[in-house]
Amino acid sequence: MFSLTTAAVLSLIPSILGQTVWLAGDSTMAAGGDGAGTNTDGKAVYKLESCNGADAVNRLGPISQPIPHFTCLFASLIDEVSSGDYVVIEFGHNDGSAGSVDNGDEDAVGDAYNLTATVTESDGSTEVIHTFNYYITNAALSLTAKGAIPIISSQTPDNIWDGDVLAAPSRFVPYAQEVAGNNSLVYIDHYDYVAQAYEAIGETTVDTFYPVDHLHTSPTGANVVAEAFVRGLLCSESTLKNFVNSAGEAVPNGCL
Ligand SMILES: *[C@@H]1O[C@H](CO)[C@@H](O)[C@H](O)[C@H]1NC(C)=O
Ligand SMILES: *[C@@H]1O[C@H](CO)[C@@H](O)[C@H](O)[C@H]1NC(C)=O
Repeated sequence: MFSLTTAAVLSLIPSILGQTVWLAGDSTMAAGGDGAGTNTDGKAVYKLESCNGADAVNRLGPISQPIPHFTCLFASLIDEVSSGDYVVIEFGHNDGSAGSVDNGDEDAVGDAYNLTATVTESDGSTEVIHTFNYYITNAALSLTAKGAIPIISSQTPDNIWDGDVLAAPSRFVPYAQEVAGNNSLVYIDHYDYVAQAYEAIGETTVDTFYPVDHLHTSPTGANVVAEAFVRGLLCSESTLKNFVNSAGEAVPNGCL
C-alpha cells in the first residue's frame, strides 16, 4: 500500500486487501490545505502534489497526448496504479479561466469534449488547451485501461452562502456529473453532500471552519468534508462502499 492517503476518508475505509485508494485533487484535498502553515487541512495527501506544487494540478493530459508541464501529474498516477485500485478524481476549483496570461490550470470553457482554446503563456508563446471534460475523461479512461476504478467526485463548495443555503455550484459540478454519466463511471456529488452537512450545521459554525479564506478548511472542517464524501460513497453504486467500516457507516446525514 502506498501511504498517499491519510486521515479521515481512509480511516473510514481501512482495509482493502491489496488494493489502494488514491485521491487525486487540488489543495482542498491536500494535507496542509492552503500550504501556508495556517492550520488548514484538506485531510488527504494527494498524489499529484508531489509532482508539481500544491495547486498546479489541473490539466490532466492523456498520456497518449502529453501536455508539456502537466503530463507528469496524471501520467505518474496512471503509471503507479494497479488493477483493482480505486482513484477518486475531484477537480474544479482551479479550472476556471485565468485572464490574459495562462496560469497553467485553466480549461477551455464548455462541456464539449473536442472544444479547444488557445491561450497565451507568460513568455508570449501560445498553447492549445482543452475542456474539463477532455482532461477528466482522458485521465479516467487511462486509469480504467489499467484496471483501476475511477470515481468522479464533484468539487467542494466554497463557504459562500445565499441565505440559509450554500451558493449555487460552479459549472464544474455539472461537468463532473456529465463526465461520469457519459463514461459510465461512478459519480459522487461531493458538493451537494458537503452542502447538506453544512446547512445542517449552520453558517455561523461553518464560518469557523474557514480560518484563512472561503476555500480551505480547518482540520475540523476537513473532517466534515471527508464525512460528507463517505456519506456520498455509501449512497453510491461504488463497490468501494463495501469497505467502509462502522465509523464510516456512522457518518451523519442521508442519501440525496
Ligand atoms: C456528455 O455527452 C453529451 C452528449 O454527447 C455532450 O453533449 C456533452 O458535452 C458531454 N459532456 C461531458 C461533460 O462529458
Ligand atoms: C473528437 O474529435 C475527433 C477528431 O475529429 C473525433 O474522432 C472524435 O470522435 C471526437 N470525440 C468526441 C467525443 O466528440
